[in-house]
Amino acid sequence: MVRSTADLRRSFFEYFQKHQHQLVSSSSLVPHDDPTLLFTNAGMNQFKDVFLGAEQRNYTRAVSSQRCVRAGGKHNDLENVGYTARHHTFFEMLGNFSFGDYFKEYAIKFAWEFLTVELGLDKEKLLVTVYFEDDEAFDIWENKIGVPADRIIRISTSDNFWSMGDTGPCGPCSEIFYDHGEHIWGGPPGSPEEDGDRFIEIWNLVFMQFNRQANGDMLPLPKPSIDTGMGLERISAILQNVHSNYEIDLFQSLIASAAKIVGTEDLENKSLRVIADHIRSCSFLICDGVMPSNEGRGYVLRRIIRRAVRHGYKLGADDIFFYKLVNTLVQEMGEAFPELKQQQAVVEKVLKVEEEQFSKTLARGMAILNDALAELSGKQVPGELVFKLYDTYGFPADLTNDVAREQDLTIDEAGFEAAMAKQKSKSQSASKFGADYANVLSVEHKTEFTGYSEVTGSSTVIDIIVDNEAVKEANASAIIILEETPFYAESGGQTGDTGFINSNSGKAKVLDTVKLGQAFAHTVSIDGVIKVGDKVELVVDRARRDRIKANHSATHLLHAALRQVLGEHVMQKGSLVDAEKLRFDFSHFESISSEQLIDIENLVNAEIRLNHALTTQLMDLDEAKESGAMALFGEKYDEKVRVVKMGEFSTELCGGTHVARTGDIGLLKITSEGGIASGVRRIEATTGQMAQDFVNDESNKLHHIASLLKSDKASVVEKVSSALQHTKSLEKELEQLKQSMAGQKSKDIMSNVVEVEGIKLLVANMQGVEAKALRGMMDDLKNQMQSGVVALGLANEGKVSLIAGVTKDLVGQFKAGELVNHMASQVGGKGGGRPDMAQAGGTQPENLDKALASVNTWLENNMKKE
Ligand code: ALA
Repeated sequence: MVRSTADLRRSFFEYFQKHQHQLVSSSSLVPHDDPTLLFTNAGMNQFKDVFLGAEQRNYTRAVSSQRCVRAGGKHNDLENVGYTARHHTFFEMLGNFSFGDYFKEYAIKFAWEFLTVELGLDKEKLLVTVYFEDDEAFDIWENKIGVPADRIIRISTSDNFWSMGDTGPCGPCSEIFYDHGEHIWGGPPGSPEEDGDRFIEIWNLVFMQFNRQANGDMLPLPKPSIDTGMGLERISAILQNVHSNYEIDLFQSLIASAAKIVGTEDLENKSLRVIADHIRSCSFLICDGVMPSNEGRGYVLRRIIRRAVRHGYKLGADDIFFYKLVNTLVQEMGEAFPELKQQQAVVEKVLKVEEEQFSKTLARGMAILNDALAELSGKQVPGELVFKLYDTYGFPADLTNDVAREQDLTIDEAGFEAAMAKQKSKSQSASKFGADYANVLSVEHKTEFTGYSEVTGSSTVIDIIVDNEAVKEANASAIIILEETPFYAESGGQTGDTGFINSNSGKAKVLDTVKLGQAFAHTVSIDGVIKVGDKVELVVDRARRDRIKANHSATHLLHAALRQVLGEHVMQKGSLVDAEKLRFDFSHFESISSEQLIDIENLVNAEIRLNHALTTQLMDLDEAKESGAMALFGEKYDEKVRVVKMGEFSTELCGGTHVARTGDIGLLKITSEGGIASGVRRIEATTGQMAQDFVNDESNKLHHIASLLKSDKASVVEKVSSALQHTKSLEKELEQLKQSMAGQKSKDIMSNVVEVEGIKLLVANMQGVEAKALRGMMDDLKNQMQSGVVALGLANEGKVSLIAGVTKDLVGQFKAGELVNHMASQVGGKGGGRPDMAQAGGTQPENLDKALASVNTWLENNMKKE
């Protein structure tokens, strides 16, 4: 039975929905609030806190199709793409989950029934693995399902013990494999030939039981749970009777479209597979808010794009091509992932700009690499070369490695790293997402936030951390965790609250509040002593909070106004809200005119004046999205989300604190606007009293300008423009005057002409004339003299300017260059030029007259020489 990939996704949902599983949308590829994870790499990521017991949902069974990227981080398949039938940078993971509901038996029964009954797979072709000591799972497979014991394989390695990362939920697992048949090389799991492509893992059932700590300890989870993952592309391949994932419908249309765009007919070419794989990860990463850059997630994206571009170039692409595939991708996947469709224009633009930039250096870099490879002795590409290609031509090391590998070569990674370290590269590696925070993150408390309605309160201290260690009391700098708090912890771009935490024995000044897992961490400086267990009184700095609230609500209005004025492609790319200002980064590809900026500001202020009551409502995520609430790509939302609404104008998902009515914002004033990266612009603005201060300040400046112009504000523009015009005409007049003065001066100077043995000589100090005018005057004087030698000099601001001229008839006899050097040597300078005209500078004005006086003798001496 052949089914399309889309059908298959649907059947999976339907089967598990029939078994009381809640359908949950895929979360973003950018994990929110989880510094241990680079990209979402499994369906269970968004449920991490539910497994850990730190978050409750109103369902205990879930089903999803999660978009995943495995490129960089713990699970990394980038290097395998194109080389195997089944590895991808991007793939969809179908999963069913139980949060303390069913466990091993039902997980196994559901999986078996779905595969063999719903999909009708041949039981004979399936075999399973269990963790070597998991007798319970073995027994279920053998006795409850009826899989013959010789097709249940015990595996003792980490292959059958799944963990999300170095820390977090984990447990033994049982995997289901499909035998693609004898004609393909490979052996069953656990055999020496297991890496072949014959037996392919299709579904992993994880029996979640532990929470792995940074020190390796395995703490039991509150309730045994189930996490499963089935690669949608792999199971599609089986149902479509093909062996390679790249032969399924979805990939075939991407491959056909890529072949057409780059102009090749060789549909089997490995490069087409790489391109078809990479367009998926790149498009979804951009859609989820990642932008190509030189660090972290953005650098992984850049590497994948550049790799794809290189493969296109290899296939003969002669123009920017990669972005053209987005359209086909949207046709294939836009229905299952509406966010992709919505963001199509942004994705295309970002890919286009990145390829345009890289294509400038790609050909040159490839030529250098190919030359070097042709001359290479040995099997390793030197690290220095890999570095040079990276540094000068923008070749990420794995791209060079990809080229090397095609010729059976490897790269000297250590040498490359050393060269990188030497240069102290600005590119931070993805490893910054390591377990740095692990110690602090092990804080497992959940703080109740009371600050939506309150700015004061009382609570009990449940934890104190000093230098990453839990302590019983503190008397200086510390982090305090409370049972409940009105202090907002920094998140969603809104800065944390400040204020005071007071106990009977101490007073803690709260400098900042941030989230550590589910706990709110107050960074404090303590006067006296505060102890775990203390009852404390809490006071948020209310005036500051009010300013933050106004800025946050204004950000929502600004976001909506930008979309109205500039278009629906505007997406939030970053936001910062503090007590002084708001900063909003968004996608937009052109500059914004001052008229548009005024329209945006007017629109926001009109909505402020409408004084909408702001409403907040908790809704299901899907319900909220359907109601038109703007969700931010790249954010992780809980199942219940908070929807913040201001009239009909703005509806956004947001956990921040907001004003009661838009009128509380008072006024919004945009203070700056500009581009900050390709396709990303930034607006900064202020509200309330600060906006008023900003306007007053501008107005005062205007007033000051008006008074300087002896005018009033109303006519200041007219006055300034007429003043500018006046200046212009004065400048023109001055220029004319200078010229006629210079003409006059040269006439006067002519009276200085003397004759030295029949040669006319004119020497003059031109003090007061501009140095630039000397050349023109020299031409003029020579013309008037018709035959003769001229030497002029002047001093201005400590510098001497000299010029010498000889009329054409005399250049055989006297050289202007020699004369000017003769003078220059006496004023600390040197010069040069043509025989008829030469210029020089000098640094000793005090010697200028002496130098000029010496010309006479120079002339005589030069005559004598003849
Ligand atoms: N979380 C498990 C995996 O990714 C199902 O394989």
